[in-house]
Parts: sequence; C-alpha cells; structure tokens
Amino acid sequence: MEAMDALREECLRCDKCGLGRTRTNLVFGTGNEKAKLMFVGEGPGEQEDLQGVPFVGRAGKLLDDMLAMFGLSRADVYIANIVKCRPPKNRDPLPEESEACYPWLEKQIALIRPRLLVCLGRIAAMRFIDPHYRISREHGQWVERDGMEITAVYHPAALLRDPRRRPEAFDDMKEIARKLRELSDG
Ligand code: URA
Repeated sequence: MEAMDALREECLRCDKCGLGRTRTNLVFGTGNEKAKLMFVGEGPGEQEDLQGVPFVGRAGKLLDDMLAMFGLSRADVYIANIVKCRPPKNRDPLPEESEACYPWLEKQIALIRPRLLVCLGRIAAMRFIDPHYRISREHGQWVERDGMEITAVYHPAALLRDPRRRPEAFDDMKEIARKLRELSDG
C-alpha cells in the first residue's frame, strides 16, 4: 500500500480526540501527492463531512475558481486541513482537538514535501507562521521554514463574507502561481 493510503487508514482509526465518533466521514486530504504546492485549512464543514473531501462547499468552489484563474486545478495541488473530522454543529475545533490532530498533517507534509505551503486563513497561519498572525496585515508575505516557503491568504469563506478583500486575495494567488511556475521551469 502507498504510504499516504496507509496513513489514511491509520487516521481512519484515530481516537485521539472525540471528533471521530460524531463525524460522518474522515476528511483526510485530496489532490496530487507529488504536488509542489499544498494548501492547509482549518477543518471540515458540513459539506466536507458529508463528502469526505476538503473544501467542497461554497468556500471550496471559490478556491477552485481562484485556482482556475491561474490555470491550476486540484490535480496540481494537495489540500488538507489541520483538523480531519468535523466538529459537531460547525463549532470551531478546540485547541486540544487541533493539537491532537496536527501530527497527521505533519506526516502528510513529510510525505508530499511541498515547496510552497499556503495557509488558508488565520487559524492555519497561526499554526505555521506565527501564533499572533494578523491576516489583514500579513497575508501574502512569505517565510522560509523547514525547506518550504510559507504564506497565508484570506480564507475563501472570509472572501465570501467580504468580497472587498478579493482583489488582495487575487494578487496573493497570482504570486503563488508565479512561484509555482518558477519552480516548475527552473
Ligand atoms: N473550511 C476549511 O477550513 N476547511 C474545509 O475543508 C472547508 C472549509
């Protein structure tokens, strides 16, 4: 069995927090396991829980559209969340749930070894960039860590709530796509 499939099997049986007992489906991650570009969100919502795939609700559709604007699709990237099981009634994951789940994401990153890691929203940015991350000031800035270049963009759900932020998100995504092309050409 491929390493990622084996990890998924193990994750299916995880009981490190209680969320596995109330979820419908595990939302492990999806996309190209050899991708140079990986996106990380916070945790599954209702649609993701029902389908077992990250970012398939309205926010996910917007993410797909933004990728498509730069000639990218899910087949070019890998998408996962910090928390793999939907918290009941869409409440935010508790710190101890995120903590318990994070090692799964670390293992996914170790297998994929992306060159670019993009945090979708503040919560992922707080985990990967800075615990005091301020998305409105710092989105689109890059840091280098653990052999990856890391940035954060507005969460697509935030862009649905406040479309005035979309031009900034568009610029950030443009730079992400440029860096990815540079990696592929060079
Ligand atoms: N929001 C997230 O952070 N992740 C998903 O998979 C869906 C919505």
